[in-house]
Amino acid sequence: MNAFISTSFHIFIILGIVNSEQEPDGPLFPSQVEVSVWYSHFNLWYIFCNGVLIALNKVVAPANCLKYHLPKDVRVSLGKVNKTHQQIIYVSRVDKHEDFQWYEWPNDIAIVTLSTPAKLDKNVQVAKLAVNSSIYVETSCMTYGWSGSRVEQVSKTLLSKNECIERSYKDLQYPLSSGLIICVLNRKGDNSAPCMGNLGTPLLCGPNKDTLVGIAKMMGVYCKAGQPSLYTDVTRYRAWILQRM
Ligand SMILES: *[C@@H]1O[C@H](CO)[C@@H](O)[C@H](O)[C@H]1NC(C)=O
Ligand SMILES: *[C@@H]1O[C@H](CO)[C@@H](O)[C@H](O)[C@H]1NC(C)=O
Repeated sequence: MNAFISTSFHIFIILGIVNSEQEPDGPLFPSQVEVSVWYSHFNLWYIFCNGVLIALNKVVAPANCLKYHLPKDVRVSLGKVNKTHQQIIYVSRVDKHEDFQWYEWPNDIAIVTLSTPAKLDKNVQVAKLAVNSSIYVETSCMTYGWSGSRVEQVSKTLLSKNECIERSYKDLQYPLSSGLIICVLNRKGDNSAPCMGNLGTPLLCGPNKDTLVGIAKMMGVYCKAGQPSLYTDVTRYRAWILQRM
């Protein structure tokens, strides 16, 4: 696992980067997307964050991941089984949220338009967009993240806004109280995987765990047992997303 440390004002964050030698046996979720950016200095594509496929040619990803990259320097990988068995698709357009800010990262969402549509198969499927995250409060959702050197799928409970604020980081009040961020917690106290996990990994809820409710925002060094992981509430951007489909 490669990681880099970024300072976002008073918040110190470790961004987990999916660039491991160990590949899982197919994606954990078929809507899972790896977002890579081109580093001309090193002459390589670097897997930079995660996203989720929401239409044949649209991916939702965090804005902070794509802030400094031109669309031609971004590509995605879908349905990755191994380095040779995956769909790599180049990006034609990136719409970052106009009100994304580095301070506390509000509105950390972007729509990535693919240059050619994804081909659906058992490893590549489109996630549904949830209508309202409050429907899923106190239900079990799935997400994934790094645990040591491997990616793990984990079950988390979506918390109510009040519990999210109560249990969360005291210095991150604005995005929490605005309700633009949702929190998840493993009530059994196992915080390992997505806590140190990857930016942009989806929170998938509903009976079939195929409905997108959030994308992972920041985790990392704040992660302690009993503290929730934070996700951008994608349902709060539903109209914004639909306008760009
Ligand atoms: C990658 O996965 C495909 C599909 O499972 C398999 O046919 C192929 O042998 C694998 N390639 C490598 C290099 O492991
Ligand atoms: C979601 O549902 C809750 C509870 O019914 C409601 O208060 C809230 O306004 C809804 N949110 C959106 C974005 O529609």
